[in-house]
Amino acid sequence: MTDLSQNCSAGLAEPPWSLDAPSASSPPGPVYGPGASQDDVAPPDAPVQGPIPSRYRRMSAAELDDRIATARARLGKRLVILGHHYQRDGIVKFADFRGDSFKLSQQAAARGDAEYLVFCGVHFMAESADVLSAEHQVVILPNLAAGCSMADMANKEDVLACWSELGRVLGQARSDDPLVPVMPITYMNSAASLKAFCGREGGAVCTSSNARAVVEWGLARASRVLFFPDEHLGRNTALDLGARDDEIVVWDPAKPLGGLTTDALERARFILWRGWCSVHTRFTVEQVERARAEHPDVNVIVHPECRHEVVAAANFAGSTEQIVRVIREAPGGTKWAVGTEINLVRRLADEMPDKSIWCLDPVVCPCSTMYRVHPAYLCWVLESLVEGRVVNQVRVDPTTAHWARIALDRMLQIPG
Ligand code: 13P
Ligand code: SF4
Repeated sequence: MTDLSQNCSAGLAEPPWSLDAPSASSPPGPVYGPGASQDDVAPPDAPVQGPIPSRYRRMSAAELDDRIATARARLGKRLVILGHHYQRDGIVKFADFRGDSFKLSQQAAARGDAEYLVFCGVHFMAESADVLSAEHQVVILPNLAAGCSMADMANKEDVLACWSELGRVLGQARSDDPLVPVMPITYMNSAASLKAFCGREGGAVCTSSNARAVVEWGLARASRVLFFPDEHLGRNTALDLGARDDEIVVWDPAKPLGGLTTDALERARFILWRGWCSVHTRFTVEQVERARAEHPDVNVIVHPECRHEVVAAANFAGSTEQIVRVIREAPGGTKWAVGTEINLVRRLADEMPDKSIWCLDPVVCPCSTMYRVHPAYLCWVLESLVEGRVVNQVRVDPTTAHWARIALDRMLQIPG
């Protein structure tokens, strides 16, 4: 079972405002902070969170709870709070909807009567909610520094440079060939500007639940796909579709021509961006073997952002929502070692005491950016709304939103 005393960073005991800018103790520029992404380098243009009023930082957990509940009641139907599965319990308990990133964006869009959509999750999720919601709805991210280190591994300039190189090497669409040379597919965990790029270039968005169907759709229209930003979801999907190893290549944006040869690119059917999730790449085959040695009847279930060898060693792999569903539907008395974010794993364990559920990783190491959303920020954004002030709005410009929506709508039309 997870030893809760063993954390990956002593900083996890601290509230996240020590990372807000500007402050004497914080390093210049954006940082991910303690947790799984602590060694990843945040890009210089990543959003930062300015200091919230000091009174919020001094409030006890009980006072924050009371004030959040009061502000929520005063805002009534004008407000919807969305809580991603990876958020801490102190946030999730106030969520009107709890779910994965895409489901939450859809639920937000369906609540057209709500003026304010407070997205307790990370930046790309708030952007997607803004793209899918109506003009009059305002999307708010309680802590602007809650990005996603994986999404940050693909920036627009690098993807456009890759696209232009691929056009040079692989050529352009030809009228005598029904397949275009390459189709861009972006994972939901990406900036709105990259979803818009896919929309413009005939590509689509995918989630971890429908990646196989979307990639198959792409390969029916193109000789190959450019899949970003997660190499691991890309490889797991490609291998699930029966790809041979030599049909899969990894594009490293730091190297000329992605570190690849023209031959390798011409042969490839899957060009995977070199990006990863530092939460899910912590899981290892050794952890799976240890769980099985200690509990021969254990079921191992992992997210497809894990490395392929881990997915191959597990009993099941599935998106966040699929993990929740599979464990919920399992009979009482079953045992589950789970390879996903610790807040979700602990919550599943608390909600289903008739099953044994624990994290595959014995070290407690949450998603660094989800961790940045603390109740003090939620209280601040809600009380600001009560006072008639919108803080921390996430807005996607209309042209980007138009094309991103096209890529999202294409995904929705793909049966899967
Ligand atoms: P979901 O799309 O399942 O919510 O996953 C988001 C995420 O960040 C997984 O690491
Ligand atoms: Fe990004 Fe991974 Fe955190 Fe999900 S768990 S938000 S992919 S860093």
